[in-house]
Amino acid sequence: MDIDILTLFPQMFQGLFSTGIFKRAIDQKLVSISLHNIRDYTHDKHHIVDDYPYGGGAGMVLKPEPIFEAVESIKSNISSNQGGVLPIILLTPQGRLFSQEVAYELSRYSHLILICGRYEGVDERVRKHLVTDEVSIGDYVLSGGELAAMVVIDAVVRLVPGVLGSEASLLNDSHVAGLLEYPQYTRPAVYREWSVPEVLLSGNHAQITKWCREQAIRRTLERRPELLDKANLCVEERQLVDTLKKSNLPREF
Ligand code: ADE
Repeated sequence: MDIDILTLFPQMFQGLFSTGIFKRAIDQKLVSISLHNIRDYTHDKHHIVDDYPYGGGAGMVLKPEPIFEAVESIKSNISSNQGGVLPIILLTPQGRLFSQEVAYELSRYSHLILICGRYEGVDERVRKHLVTDEVSIGDYVLSGGELAAMVVIDAVVRLVPGVLGSEASLLNDSHVAGLLEYPQYTRPAVYREWSVPEVLLSGNHAQITKWCREQAIRRTLERRPELLDKANLCVEERQLVDTLKKSNLPREF
């Protein structure tokens, strides 16, 4: 997967891409990430990227020309045999809400362009005539799209085949099956008199699978009950939810 990022602060991304799964994915050429400084696409002496909003109002607005030129330059370098849809995504609190589902959707493309907004916003012509998608990572306002882009890229890149050591670990991730993840334990079996649940030490894989599934359902009911409406549960699991609801679950925290 190729990812191009347009930003005024490329240095913000350096730490992320030089560590952990990103470094490995880039070294193994599973992912290629290119950072583009929007300022490099200006033509004036002072490399001005923003201007006052027409009609007045607080703050500055990112000018359209450098953003259009950056995207057009990236597109002109794509070889013609790499056909297919190329999403051009603006990170903005006005976008559609990012989720695991959106991460899966984006992970199916071979190329993404992400545009990080700054200041009070981006000239509306960028939204109308350049970008194909707008994404928000939550109902709060960050000082720019960079952190949001990092969140999106992290969630998407780990879904690219081969990036995570074990694809199986994806299946149990919170939100993947519409449920939160069950509690995890590792050695020691007893720590400060707190024991790992016995079933996990039993070696009985059927029992363990059943326990994990039930714990995921309990945890989801306790913390994010609205997720259960859309979760893929069998008849017995739906009955379990009903029983748990009636039994007034003790709070976990
Ligand atoms: N830029 C500023 N706030 C943002 C948000 N919540 N999501 C995406 N981009 C943003």
